[in-house]
Amino acid sequence: MRVGVIGTGHVGLVSCASLALMGHQVVGCDSDPEKISLIRSGVAPFYEPGLDDCLRDEMASGRLTFTSDVQEAVRGAEVVFICVGTPPRASGEANLLAIEQAVRQFARYATGPAIAVAKSTVPAGTAGRVQRVLLLERPDLAGQLDVVSNPEFLREGTALEDALHPDRILVGASSPRALETMRRLYEPLLNHGCKLIETDIRTAELAKHACNAFLALKISYVNALARLCEKVGADVVTIADVMGADARIGRAFLNAGLGFGGYCFPKDIQAFERLAAGLGYEFTLLREVARINEEAVAATIEKMRGVLWNLEDKRIALFGLSFKPGTDDIRFAPALALARRLIEDGASVVGYDPQAGPNAKEELPELEVVLDPYEAAVKCHAVVICTEWPEFRSLDLVRLRNALIFPLVIDGRNLFDPSDMRAAGLLYYPTGRPPVEPDDLAS
Ligand code: UGA
Repeated sequence: MRVGVIGTGHVGLVSCASLALMGHQVVGCDSDPEKISLIRSGVAPFYEPGLDDCLRDEMASGRLTFTSDVQEAVRGAEVVFICVGTPPRASGEANLLAIEQAVRQFARYATGPAIAVAKSTVPAGTAGRVQRVLLLERPDLAGQLDVVSNPEFLREGTALEDALHPDRILVGASSPRALETMRRLYEPLLNHGCKLIETDIRTAELAKHACNAFLALKISYVNALARLCEKVGADVVTIADVMGADARIGRAFLNAGLGFGGYCFPKDIQAFERLAAGLGYEFTLLREVARINEEAVAATIEKMRGVLWNLEDKRIALFGLSFKPGTDDIRFAPALALARRLIEDGASVVGYDPQAGPNAKEELPELEVVLDPYEAAVKCHAVVICTEWPEFRSLDLVRLRNALIFPLVIDGRNLFDPSDMRAAGLLYYPTGRPPVEPDDLAS
């Protein structure tokens, strides 16, 4: 099928690559010509494992092209994916201006029957507005332009894998023709047993917010438990294992730590809460989820003060600056929230990240960024593990200990085995688990 994709952010670019891999003829477009020339050279504007190779292969096959002219992407396309950003307004509501503009462009340049597929996370009711725009803009194509809600569930860091092997495809549509087109589009995945859930449009829109908010809720729940565990001396990791052994609960997303970040959960739970409030329902649970998430950074600072006392003359190393491993995305990263608070409190802060260093430096110039974790630790009073990059697991802990002025490690992701920390002579504060002191400090 001939497919256009408007917007080449994470969802857009991964959609371009995966749709081309499925055998479709795809034209991706973005209003930023510099971004398009970078992508054309085979380099994604962000780090996503496997994506650059895939883009190069698919461009070489001729199935995938890119343009900064939206008309080229829409003209002759049977399906046009709308993958533009929905950033938060100051009120927390989603700003849907880019969606409206993309839909108007779709309407303007459509040359025949076509479907606008809303991939971006949008408040329930958005597709209804899209439908009205289509009718107003193209009365000549009345009944031929459709809108479908097809929310994306991919995660940064494993985005290609998620797009090619999703655990479900959700399609909200109001016309049988649109549904049939979407089934054809996803046929290669459906033939491999992927589950297709077909609903009305509003249900699909709401389901996406419901999924993200529920995952965020699980994280805040376990983080609240972590605070309690720290007070009574219990172990949150074991509690999460006990909870996770119950199939009704599940172990996933019960990892206590510095909390959730990224461009999805923080803004989506806010937008969801605002949507509900606008509809007359006070979804206060979601406000608590956000509050508990913010508490995680504050709790880390309290731990540090508990051991180091004043922070003014202290040097702190942050390991991991991206909001999660496998990405260079620092948007709403807990590590940066922590860095800002520490800098405000007068500490000097140095960070290391396998991918996100340059982005972090650009966002927070006061943060010193180095290229090696041991170098980051030199003359520091504490290391905080902010992102669980797998490479941190194989750190030489004795070398780390020797680089530090004071041997404190605060593990904001519960990455390490406490006994390894004790053996290396480190004072170790995990999250929601009892701290361990090295034998020489304890005595
Ligand atoms: C999330 C959802 O998982 C995707 O299904 C969804 O498609 C995407 O948002 C989106 O709406 O676009 P993503 O933001 O890439 O994906 O990352 P996640 O893997 O969900 O992690 C989000 C945050 O939660 C990270 O900061 C991570 O460190 C944190 N997290 C995750 C925890 O603190 N504890 C956990 O147990 C799991």
